[in-house]
Amino acid sequence: MFLTDLSLTNFRAYTRLDIEVPRRVVLLLGNNAQGKTSLLEAIYYLATFTSFHTQNDRQLINFLAGGDELAVTRIVAGYQRGERRHRLEVRLIQDTNGNGGTRLRKEILSDGVKSTAQGALGNFNAVIFLPQMTRIIEGGPEERRRYLNLTISQAMPGYAQALGEYSQVLSQRNALLKLLAERGGDPEQLVYWDDLLAQKGATLIFQRIHAVHELEQVARRIHHRLSHGNEILRLDYRPSYDPVPPVEGQYSLPLDAPVDRTNIKPEQIRQGFLQRLQAIHREEIARGVTTVGPHRDELRFLSSGVDLGDYGSRGQVRTALLSLKLAEVDWLKSKTGEWPVLLLDEILAELDTQRRSDLLNAVHDSEQALLTTTDLNLFPPAFSRCVHLWRVESGRVRVETLPDAGEMEG
Ligand SMILES: Nc1ncnc2c1ncn2[C@@H]1O[C@H](COP(=O)(O)OP(=O)(O)OP(=O)(O)O)[C@@H](O)[C@H]1O
Ligand SMILES: [Mg+2]
Repeated sequence: MFLTDLSLTNFRAYTRLDIEVPRRVVLLLGNNAQGKTSLLEAIYYLATFTSFHTQNDRQLINFLAGGDELAVTRIVAGYQRGERRHRLEVRLIQDTNGNGGTRLRKEILSDGVKSTAQGALGNFNAVIFLPQMTRIIEGGPEERRRYLNLTISQAMPGYAQALGEYSQVLSQRNALLKLLAERGGDPEQLVYWDDLLAQKGATLIFQRIHAVHELEQVARRIHHRLSHGNEILRLDYRPSYDPVPPVEGQYSLPLDAPVDRTNIKPEQIRQGFLQRLQAIHREEIARGVTTVGPHRDELRFLSSGVDLGDYGSRGQVRTALLSLKLAEVDWLKSKTGEWPVLLLDEILAELDTQRRSDLLNAVHDSEQALLTTTDLNLFPPAFSRCVHLWRVESGRVRVETLPDAGEMEG
């Protein structure tokens, strides 16, 4: 799939942008703080309805516009998926809440029809690659859960909905646990929430098992090549409620055998998770919080048995991340039948020649890719000659050059 046009209103430094987006490769060139990353952020927002930079949507509203009581930020895009043209619009509307404060509403229109984020997810797909994404591997487990959620939501129907419902049930269940801990009461009240949590949670666990398994297959192949056959990458999903509990002491061994959970049915997971929840009522009431479930899942990245989050060198972590991102592109393509739009922020500087060329190959294969850079010289001349060049300057975009005719073909 590919974008055909993009229009931004009051999005970060862009007070107004209307631009046609060509197919193939667009290179966004500009100095620091001109709006390159913001443009990718806006496009990625259309794929996930959240920002990779902030979970606070208010930060996306242009400073000047945001100072007013009423402010509207809009991202509107036309895109083509298969043979069909579509339109997607997101509005962030800030207005007064009656108590002298302001509130923020999010509206999504998919082909002109109002939709929830969950309903509109998966219509437009993108993969983004930012240098700071090494924190997926090196950061806390919440980074990896967020990564899984954003990636799986785009490709597996029902995931986003289950995730939204799971979060709601979880906070209700936690509120009840806290109440029971503080004031006492009948623990039987938990049964209703146990049921719902197990139901929604099982969907998440089941889809995570399969997504991680599939991603791993592709990532491992790519990683094998990138590491010149020296390393074997593993994506080790460790569900907090594990339908196949690990053998005692297994995680302490550096070369543990992978656990295969792909044969387990969702119903089996649901029942097992439910039983576990019921078995630990007393303990959970004492702690006043739900201690087991997908909100506590972990995903580890291992290279030849060594945990990269704990022991990876800078280069190893970058290579694993590149493998993961390239795998994500292939995986989304195989799940949806469409190339996701590739968004690459300033990443070439960090890669060596082999990895650069692998990345640029993926860029060439894709239907549409937008790359940012401050320095055109990082790209091989043969590459720069056949891309569309956009100059980004203080929240404005100037279409600078068109690719050499002829070079685009083929
Ligand atoms: N809500 C906002 N309203 C107005 N301006 C904003 C807002 N949020 C961020 N900015 C500004 O937008 C500018 C562009 O940021 P962006 O990260 O897109 O730049 P960039 O071109 O990617 O720079 P770099 O090369 O340093 O990565 C920054 O100066 C930032 O302060
Ligand atoms: Mg930037």
